Parts: sequence; C-alpha cells; structure tokens
Amino acid sequence: MLRILGRRDRGRRQTPDDASRPLGGDRGRKHPGRVIGVLNYKGGTGKTTTVVNLAAGLALRGARVLCIDLDAQGGLATSLDVRYTHSLADLLLGRSKPSACVVQARENLDLIASDRSLLRAEGELWRIGEKAKQGLAERMRGVVGYDYVFLDYSPSLSLIGECGLRYNRELIVPVAMSYMALVGTRQVIETLKVVNDDLPGHRVRLSLIVPTFYDGRQRIDREIIELLHRYFADRVAEPIRASVKLSEATSRGMTIYEYAPRSSGAIDYVRLVERVARSG
Ligand SMILES: Nc1ncnc2c1ncn2[C@@H]1O[C@H](COP(=O)(O)OP(=O)(O)OP(=O)(O)O)[C@@H](O)[C@H]1O
Ligand SMILES: [Mg+2]
Repeated sequence: MLRILGRRDRGRRQTPDDASRPLGGDRGRKHPGRVIGVLNYKGGTGKTTTVVNLAAGLALRGARVLCIDLDAQGGLATSLDVRYTHSLADLLLGRSKPSACVVQARENLDLIASDRSLLRAEGELWRIGEKAKQGLAERMRGVVGYDYVFLDYSPSLSLIGECGLRYNRELIVPVAMSYMALVGTRQVIETLKVVNDDLPGHRVRLSLIVPTFYDGRQRIDREIIELLHRYFADRVAEPIRASVKLSEATSRGMTIYEYAPRSSGAIDYVRLVERVARSG
C-alpha cells in the first residue's frame, strides 16, 4: 500500500465592486500573507469544501481572507452563494484589476470567482506560452492586505493550476479515504518536486495532509490514516469525518458554521482552522 505514495518525501451576496476598497483592509502591510493552495489531482476529495470552511473559520476569528477559484466548475461562488461580475478569467487576461474581481462573500472573507469563462481564458493563455504561468503571481503582486489567500484547485493538471503553483507557497492536500486519492496525492508530490526544481527562489511546501470523508468504523479508512501517518508523520491533520451536513451546507450556499454549527463537520473544521492558524 505504501508504494502508492512512492518514496517518502523529505524534506451569498455580492457587494458592489468597489475599486477604491483597499483589498484585505488597509493594515499598512507589505507582505501578501500566507498563500495556500488546496490541491489533490483526484476529484471529489473535499478541496472546495475545505477551502470554504477553512477560509470562513479563519475569517470568523478575525483574519482577513481571500479565496481564489482556479476551477472552471466555479464551486466557490456556488458554495458561498455569491454573485459576481468579473472573474478570475478577466484578471488573468488583463481585462480587470484584482479590485474589480474581488467580491465580499462574508465579513472578512473575499472571493475571486471562476466559471466556464476560465476554459476560454486558458486557451488564450496557452498562446502566450511559458510566460503565462507567471500571470497570477504577477497580477496579485500588489494585493497585500490579506492574512490568508486560499487557492481552490481543479482536479486536473492545467495551465491555470501551473499559475497557482507559481503563486502559492504552501499546499494543503485533502485526501479522501480511497486508494485513488492516494494516487492523486502522489501526483501532487511529484508536481511539487518539478515546480520547486524549475523555479529557483520560489519554494512550495506541502504543509498539511487533511484526511476527509473519514469513517472510523471502516477498516480501510483506519488503514489509510495509518499509512498517511507513516508517510507524512506530523503533517497529517486530524480527519474531517464524513458528514451529510457538509454536503447539505454546500448545496445551500452556506458554510458549515452557518448551516450546522454543532455538527461533526463544524467541529472538525474548527479544529483544522486552529491547526492552520497555529502553524503560521
Ligand atoms: N467530509 C465530508 N462528508 C460528506 N460530504 C462531503 C465532505 N466533504 C465534502 N463533501 C461533499 O462532497 C462533494 C465533493 O466535495 P468537494 O466539492 O469539496 O470536492 P472537490 O475535491 O472540490 O471536488 P472537485 O475535484 O470536483 O473540485 C460535495 O458535494 C461536498 O459537499
Ligand atoms: Mg472543487
């Protein structure tokens, strides 16, 4: 089973666009905050759910948080029930500034949304070639008011994903309790090595593995957790249990703290929020 992971790695509402609003609040800061990607190349491992509830949990604690949707499925705007005019595609194609693309999703929580226009944008960006991969980092350069910026990746390798990897400094990998999710995790590790070798001066570290859809009654789930601990040691977070409330919250455009604050999903995500906040 260990072989799947390869060799051990060492090492709701739109507020009006307001271009004058200082992004992330004016704190006189020069640093872009922690830019954290949430990635697994297996689909449906809880990436979007983790971005929403991690970001919302940190925002509830008073941190200034921005989420960017790198997935043309547009799950973030739906999950947070946000309407928007300008999307990530406009930003990457240079048609809009970050301030025009950012919408407020909740108090302290902003979003740059995506939709299918991202697929068209990707086609145009391919024509620019290698330089396009720096596009997100370049366009976000002046955005420094946030404590956290979360990137919600799509499950496929894409040019937009490559843009993300050149912008974020940390990765969180949600791993659902299946062997295919382990394969997707191995692909993340391999991609990280390539990115870190290719780009001197830009280091992305895998900061946290988050087991998701966990059901302690299932032997396979316990085996996968054990395997993750053997491989990633203290980088494995406490698991997010399988909870129907999490999928219900998504379908209603609510965070788990709004929809079911006493549910196991809320308890598990609060614990993850604390861990991420501590690890800064
Ligand atoms: N712990 C959980 N328990 C039960 N349902 C969950 C849990 N986490 C996420 N879900 C639900 O599972 C579905 C897939 O989750 P999500 O969209 O977060 O995965 P994803 O990795 O972003 O998928 P994709 O690869 O397609 O982007 C959603 O309907 C979500 O509400
Ligand atoms: Mg998703």
